[in-house]
Amino acid sequence: MSDFLPGLEGVPATKSAISFIDGEKGILSYRGYPLETLAENSTFEETTLLLLDGELPTKKALNDFSQQLKDNYRIKYHIRQMMRHFPHTGHPMDMLQTAVSSLGMFYPGTECLTDANSCEDLDYVRNMTVNIIAQMAPLVAMWEHIRNGWDPVNPKHDLSVAENLLYMFNGEEPDPLMAKIMDVCLILHAEHTLNASTFAALVAGSTLATPYSVISAAIGTLSGPLHGGANQRVVGMLQEIGSPKNVESWVDEKLKNKEVIWGMGHREYKVKDPRATILHKLVEQLVAERGGHLDDMFDTALKLEEVCADRLGHKGVYPNVDFYSGILYSEMGIPEDEFTALFAVARSAGWLAHWREQISDNRIYRPTQIYVGSDMRDYTPIEER
Ligand code: COA
Repeated sequence: MSDFLPGLEGVPATKSAISFIDGEKGILSYRGYPLETLAENSTFEETTLLLLDGELPTKKALNDFSQQLKDNYRIKYHIRQMMRHFPHTGHPMDMLQTAVSSLGMFYPGTECLTDANSCEDLDYVRNMTVNIIAQMAPLVAMWEHIRNGWDPVNPKHDLSVAENLLYMFNGEEPDPLMAKIMDVCLILHAEHTLNASTFAALVAGSTLATPYSVISAAIGTLSGPLHGGANQRVVGMLQEIGSPKNVESWVDEKLKNKEVIWGMGHREYKVKDPRATILHKLVEQLVAERGGHLDDMFDTALKLEEVCADRLGHKGVYPNVDFYSGILYSEMGIPEDEFTALFAVARSAGWLAHWREQISDNRIYRPTQIYVGSDMRDYTPIEER
């Protein structure tokens, strides 16, 4: 029997051609393209097609795909009604998981998934994929209005996923800088090899569950604070620290109490996460243009990064993707508890790319365990216990 490795660290659980990480050098690529290149030149729509199909699309393929997404922005009336009945205190990730799993009842048709080793109906796979990716952002934005007792803003079918997301959130079309930043954020969060939520998606997908169940499993897994849930905690942490001059004593106190610093550390990276480097530059750009209260939060973040490098650098603990994203989202008018839901919007592209890869060469996941319980024993009747 093989050794048990807690957290399955370093244990290959699948073969995949979708993305690649070199954690020592701080490299992340999607289908062989460096993330930095995609962040600079691509769009979320194009990156999604690249993840799904493996190649950069032609202009026509991209236009068709973007149009298909736009045609799917609208959320069905009954789902909107259902959301009105959710408790308004419900967390956006719980709302999203519930709403996405309910989509499975509104968009049935899983016939092609009944053959365990192939999914021949590629139209079904593509249609469900488009349907889910297109509806994630509207669901998140609608919830912000519904939970505040307002009518949701209807989607605008001529806007990109990033533009429409901000439009449905704020009720007005975003300026080009904000739209570009949101688009880059979506690209950066779209895929990240076999993280916990993608693994959850693969396990669910391997049972030939519907893509709605697959994405629902992944959303639930992403919600935990050790995974996507960290980003919502970073802004609160920076506010709690308050100013660069408080950073050193704050970090020392946390480390003394064996508490984690949110947005720091990653299983795969032993250097600064390349996504954090790109987000760092975006915050710099925004601070240069907008300044104000952003300056304080950014200065505190910079000092925190410096102090953590000093105290935790020898353990390979540096800023991860969640460290700078919250600062950007706050500036876009997005409440903190919606940050992880935005992560899910983007990651739906990667999850579905992995789902498709899984079902095209499927074997159900069924790992083993090392039993550490008692030997066989006699049952004692309750009167004698
Ligand atoms: N703050 C303080 N110490 C940290 C840390 C953090 N954020 N992240 C890791 N460390 C320390 C651990 O305490 C451990 O120290 P030790 O060897 O003295 O016990 C060492 O670094 C290795 O960390 P470990 O927890 O074993 O790494 P992991 O691969 O199991 O966990 C995370 C990775 C992401 C769960 C972990 O870094 C973490 O909790 N980060 C904060 C949450 C977060 O930002 N998550 C988002 C990830 S994108």
